[in-house]
Amino acid sequence: RVARPIRIIEVGPRDGLQNEPAIVPTSAKVSFVNALSRTGAAEIEIGSFVSPHAIPQLADSDEVARKMERLPGVTYSALVPNEKGLERARAAAIEKIAVFTAASETFARRNIKCGVLESIDRFAPLVAEAKRDGMTVRGYISTATHCPFEGAVDPGRVIKVMQRLLHIGIDEISLGDTIGKAAPNDVRRLLDATLPHIERSRLSLHFHDTYGMAVANVLAAWTDYGIEAFDTAAGGLGGCPYAPGASGNVATEDVVYALKASGAILTVDEQQVAAAARQISRALDRPLASRLSRIQTDR
Ligand code: HMG
Ligand code: MG
Repeated sequence: RVARPIRIIEVGPRDGLQNEPAIVPTSAKVSFVNALSRTGAAEIEIGSFVSPHAIPQLADSDEVARKMERLPGVTYSALVPNEKGLERARAAAIEKIAVFTAASETFARRNIKCGVLESIDRFAPLVAEAKRDGMTVRGYISTATHCPFEGAVDPGRVIKVMQRLLHIGIDEISLGDTIGKAAPNDVRRLLDATLPHIERSRLSLHFHDTYGMAVANVLAAWTDYGIEAFDTAAGGLGGCPYAPGASGNVATEDVVYALKASGAILTVDEQQVAAAARQISRALDRPLASRLSRIQTDR
């Protein structure tokens, strides 16, 4: 296999901050995005254009997008659930949007207030419109291995949802272990099932780290299957308010360290990520979950 650089999709400003009890000031979010822009991440998910009733923590994503610096070579993306979200993304000059559904029915209903198939039917015109405007569209499939309400999820369900999303023109799929329960064998089962149905280059994996398996999952996906894109959050921030018991995303700096130490090529500087994480940790006034952000001396 030809070694290609691994893409890090930094979701700290979105997934990282959407579940925080405190609402972070807009200026701190802008500084966080600006710091992350200098880490070498391929893409930064800067926020969500969702209902402020659902996620008040990210109600100011429009302002974040207006005030942040945009560095060449970095893609700035955001979550969009509906037409109103698309209008906001367009007004904020966001070049890539992400729609989101799930592999399990109960989680979809709690998170986006409709069933899985209905959600994809609703996305179809939205995706077409976004693509006409020149945007790239990502599709998240949550609960790809486990659902907080239904338990283990059959990969066959993921395949069906993925095929429908690809059919409506989604450019890239992110498979999410929303509650951070998957272990490498679950990842292998998921990839054995899904990879025959999608080009590897269009797939990203999104691990939360509740059971401490996420770095192992990333390494299994890269070494055994050549997966080249991972969603991670600086400092290990994150979680979904509609997924009880779920903890943060796998920490960007820990993933970068683990992949580089295993021989992978990455453009991301893990020390810069850890510095950005410490910065947002001061704004949140709490310590972070990542290992690297807590190391004081590096020998
Ligand atoms: P709904 O309540 O059915 O929608 O929400 P509605 O159309 O009836 O609107 C209700 C209110 O929300 C109205 O306001 C709308 O204007 C407003 P009111 O008139 O009552 O004041 N509204 C909006 N405002 C601004 N922008 C919008 C927007 N949409 C509605 N775009 C909906 C349905 C899905 C829109 C809502 O429930 C929602 O926005 N949910 C967000 C859920 C969310 O963000 N979840 C977390 C992200 S997913 C995740 O974390 C998983 C992931 O990380 C992967 C993984 O880990 O698995 C991606
Ligand atoms: Mg998530």
